[in-house]
Amino acid sequence: MRIIQVESYEKLSALAADIIGGQVLLNPHCVLGLATGSSPLGTYADLVKRYEQGLLDFSGVRTVNLDEYCGLTGDDPQSYRYFMDHNLFDKVNVDKNNTHLPDGSAPDMQAECARYEALVESLGWPDLQLLGIGHNGHIGFNEPEDVFHAAVHTVKLAESTIKANSRLFERPEDVPTSAVTMGVGAIMKAKRVLLIAGADKAGIVERAFHGPVTPQVPASILQLHRDATVILSMA
Ligand code: GLP
Repeated sequence: MRIIQVESYEKLSALAADIIGGQVLLNPHCVLGLATGSSPLGTYADLVKRYEQGLLDFSGVRTVNLDEYCGLTGDDPQSYRYFMDHNLFDKVNVDKNNTHLPDGSAPDMQAECARYEALVESLGWPDLQLLGIGHNGHIGFNEPEDVFHAAVHTVKLAESTIKANSRLFERPEDVPTSAVTMGVGAIMKAKRVLLIAGADKAGIVERAFHGPVTPQVPASILQLHRDATVILSMA
């Protein structure tokens, strides 16, 4: 795997947008695996800018997101569907029918997990999967555990994740305690993986990519991916 260090968040965002934009140029019908969180905000803003400049066309692109909170509908401003609409999908010419996230408000979550797994498989798995990383090494919402989960599954969020994500909610008790996430199977089947990490993640990046491969640090499995790139910002 490649680890590219850049000096600022702006450079990280521009480089990630170069790579994702390059993927869209090479294959206008590609399947982009997308992520939420603070890390990709700059990347999405850069992609929007390039679309507005006429440099990118998203009309044929399909997208699959990693995860969604359980219990939130897509119109809830805290949902990941809302985040994606607001930060990317509504600002470029992607066909909204081709943008997919798990439905965190589905009445039968087991059926929803099976549906989403089948959907991602039917699209042929992501051509490029964008990832952030949690301070505990989670990717998507694959939290540290004794085993890796291959398929889409529901997960009880780690205390540290709930705490980290509470910054985005008005009251800590509003943070959902469970989520539905792609497993590491779909992530490992992506043809390319791009993980972006800000300077505050330097410690976990070191543990994940220079330490042992273990489900206790879920991102460490990317050491086994044949085409994984990490962009780490130094400040
Ligand atoms: C969230 C998301 C992840 C994201 C991670 C890091 O909980 N489920 O997909 O990569 O945590 O988020 P951030 O980029 O805000 O640090």
